[in-house]
Amino acid sequence: MPLIGPAAGAVVCRVNEFQKITADALKAMKGRERIVALTAYDFPMARLLDQTGAQLILVGDSLGMVVLGYSDTTEVTMDDMLHHVRAAARAKPRGLLAADLPFNSYSTPIEAVENARRLVAAGAEAVKAEGGQAILQQARAIVDAGIPFIGHVGMLPQHIREEGSYRIKGKTDPEHRALIEDCQALADAGASAVVLELVTHSVASELTEQCAIPTIGIGSGPDCDGQILVTTDLLGTSPGFIPRHVKMRGDLGTEAVRIIENWSRSVWTPPAP
Ligand code: KIV
Repeated sequence: MPLIGPAAGAVVCRVNEFQKITADALKAMKGRERIVALTAYDFPMARLLDQTGAQLILVGDSLGMVVLGYSDTTEVTMDDMLHHVRAAARAKPRGLLAADLPFNSYSTPIEAVENARRLVAAGAEAVKAEGGQAILQQARAIVDAGIPFIGHVGMLPQHIREEGSYRIKGKTDPEHRALIEDCQALADAGASAVVLELVTHSVASELTEQCAIPTIGIGSGPDCDGQILVTTDLLGTSPGFIPRHVKMRGDLGTEAVRIIENWSRSVWTPPAP
């Protein structure tokens, strides 16, 4: 299996490259090996990511925009998530398969545990939810139920309708303080890792240094313990705008159109005059 090599200067983690990555193994990668995380929404993409050795595969609620054509993640339902988690789980990836709890599915600790259990029954090995101290009881209840939990702080896409835009967090003192307290609280609650989305690079670096669990950045600079991207952004197949932090490595969208047009020309004949 072509596995990703260690990041320059990083010490290789002792986790066996061919062993299944559990939530505990992911947590143990802090300070040892940079975590490569990507999103998958179906069986073929989860299989492709598995071939590359991705250590964390997230069935993200970003699927709302990049697969289902919704305008933002607030329209994603539990049924949407369950359908896509089942598909990705059929790939049985070596990396930890995590799934997002969608908007309005974790308003109380009881609801959070009930829906986390449904995602696990569909094949997820960990669940992620957005928020820090605001959802601490939910995070604790999920961990107490024996389900690995991943936090998500900084820009919270499920709050886009109140926020109005995808804005960088941590620029003001109150935001900086809140981020530190959120990460600390999530680590204390037993989270296995925390996603930092659109956090200023300096604050993300500080959080990574202070927090006992791995930080996985998206648009939050190079100093996090790992990086995650929406895979379709990286490949150039996302239907909407591509965020500024994504350095596309190819343009499979354009390539797909070229291939399909090429085939179409071999089939189609102009109408007879
Ligand atoms: O939904 C998602 O894909 C995510 C990642 C961008 C972190 O939450």
